[in-house]
Order: sequence, then structure tokens, then C-alpha cells
Amino acid sequence: MRPTSLTCLLLLSSPLCCTMNQARLTVSPSSSQMFEGEFVSLSCEEDDSSAGWKLRRNTTRETRKECEDWGESAGSSCNITVTAPWDSGIYWCESREGATSNSINITVTGGSVILQSPVLPVMEGDDVTLHCKTETSNLPADFYKDGSLIRTEPAGHMTIHHVSRSEEGLYKCNSSSHGESPSSWISVTGKPTTTAPPPVSEAPPQLVFTLVCHLVVFCPYFISTLLMVSLYRHRPTGNDPPVSMVMTQPIQAEQGLDDDYDDIITSVTTEHHF
Ligand SMILES: *[C@@H]1O[C@H](CO)[C@@H](O)[C@H](O)[C@H]1NC(C)=O
Ligand SMILES: *[C@@H]1O[C@H](CO)[C@@H](O)[C@H](O)[C@H]1NC(C)=O
Ligand SMILES: *[C@@H]1O[C@H](CO)[C@@H](O)[C@H](O)[C@H]1NC(C)=O
Ligand SMILES: *[C@@H]1O[C@H](CO)[C@@H](O)[C@H](O)[C@H]1NC(C)=O
Repeated sequence: MRPTSLTCLLLLSSPLCCTMNQARLTVSPSSSQMFEGEFVSLSCEEDDSSAGWKLRRNTTRETRKECEDWGESAGSSCNITVTAPWDSGIYWCESREGATSNSINITVTGGSVILQSPVLPVMEGDDVTLHCKTETSNLPADFYKDGSLIRTEPAGHMTIHHVSRSEEGLYKCNSSSHGESPSSWISVTGKPTTTAPPPVSEAPPQLVFTLVCHLVVFCPYFISTLLMVSLYRHRPTGNDPPVSMVMTQPIQAEQGLDDDYDDIITSVTTEHHF
């Protein structure tokens, strides 16, 4: 009975442990748009490097292509030394088992204007600054959201204070001298109710992971042991006086104590059934 249930638990808990295995995709420079010819570095920050996280992307030309086919790969990071417009697409990390990270939209333009906007979702309540720029400087520009003009900024950058969910959308800018930027989606995520969890890189993830796995495996045993102990202690109701008597008696010999104990058990059992 015991070994079987242990095997069961181990089998049950191993997929649980695997789904807790996660990765986060980060990109440097952290911008959703860039000019062609620039350098970009993508990296999977993972809990477990043995899970074989790989960078993949979908572009207009190809789907689910691994880094080996379009960048310089080293472990779970990937660099594009010289970007081109056909590198525009959606990027994500995928483990050998098919688990996926967050995904990131990147637009590489052959034009002369970009909108520099956050590539990762923005936290509700935070401030966000968008820049309309050429390769060398900010441009006086109009800023658009979902096709409608929202602001004209002579300095070429626009700050949205205390971002809300309703400000999620497709943004672009347009300068009278240099023309339009591509559009980029800005997503806003809800603020967590508790304090923000520490970044993946700061915690010792392997330790937490192992701890959680052990908890998942041992919790049922711990709980059932507690239950059994409490059941045992509650069953013989007339138990208390004999126990305290035994405790106060001077201990003469191991054998004697054992005999006393057996006597109590027997008497309790008889009491219980009378
Ligand atoms: C990539 O393209 C495939 C095939 O069209 C699609 O199933 C998948 O959802 C895409 N991945 C992302 C992250 O958009
Ligand atoms: C990618 O670029 C980063 C930063 O420049 C560097 O540390 C890393 O070694 C590069 N990786 C590859 C695979 O070239
Ligand atoms: C990528 O962009 C499309 C629209 O351009 C948007 O619908 C989608 O949510 C974006 N994905 C991410 C991860 O930002
Ligand atoms: C961008 O600005 C130019 C010049 O101000 C204007 O002619 C054009 O219509 C604008 N484009 C959009 C999409 O508003």
C-alpha cells in the first residue's frame, strides 16, 4: 500500500514540477522598433537550463524558426549582429517539452523614423515615455493611438503618466520632416496586489524549484500523518487521567514502563467498548 501510493505521488508530482518550469524573454536594446543594421541581443532567462530553452520566431517569411537559422546562438541566448526588415516578427523562448515564455514583437524598419516604445508589457500605474526619432535625434512629431491623433510634441517625446488598461493599443508617430514610424503594440498589465516578486535572476530559482517539488511530494504525507495522530489522540476519550498517572510515576525500568503502557492501552480499549 505504502510503496504504491509513493510511486503514485511521484508520478503525479513530476508533471506538476515540469509545468512550474518557466522562462522569460528579454531583449537588448529594450525597444519594440529599431533601424535596420542595428545589433540586437535576445535572451531566455530560465529556471532550469537543462530544459533546453531555445529562441524561436515567426516572421512574414517563416514560422517557428530556431535561432540557428537566423542569428548567432549560444545556449539560450541569441544575437542578430546586423538586423534587416525581414527580422520583424514575434519572438519567444520554447523548451524541449514545448513550454513557452512571454513573446515579444520586434519591428525593424528600413525607413528613417522609429517610435521607441517599451517592448515588454507596462505595469498599470507606471509612467511610459515614447520617443519619435531618427537614428541621431528626437523629432518634433504627432503621436497616434489606434489611428487617432492624441498629442503633438515639439520635443519629440511623449510621457503617459499612471498608465491604465485603456491606454493599451497600437501607437505610432509622424513627423512633418521625416514621415511616419511603423506601429507598435503597447500592452498594459494589471498591478499585482502583493509586493512585486523579485526578478528571476535575483532568487536562487533552482532552490525554490526544488523546495516546491519537495513540498508537493511530502505535504500529503505530512497531512495524513497529522490526521492519523489526531485521530489516535481523540479516539480514547477517558484517556487523560491514566496517562498523567503514568507520567508522574517514577520510571523503574524500561520493561516496566512498556508493561504499564500496554495495560493502559488495554484498559482504554475496554473502557471505550463497555
Ligand atoms: C507562430 O506561428 C505559428 C504558425 O502560424 C502559430 O501557430 C503560433 O501561434 C505563432 N506563435 C506566436 C507566438 O505567435
Ligand atoms: C550576444 O551579445 C551579448 C552582448 O553583447 C554577448 O554578451 C553574448 O556573448 C553574445 N552572444 C552570442 C551568442 O554571440
Ligand atoms: C504583437 O502585435 C500585435 C499587433 O500588431 C498584437 O495584437 C499582439 O498582442 C502583440 N503581441 C505582443 C506579445 O505584444
Ligand atoms: C504625417 O504628417 C504629414 C505632414 O505633416 C501629413 O501630410 C500626413 O498626412 C501625416 N500622416 C498621417 C498618417 O497623419
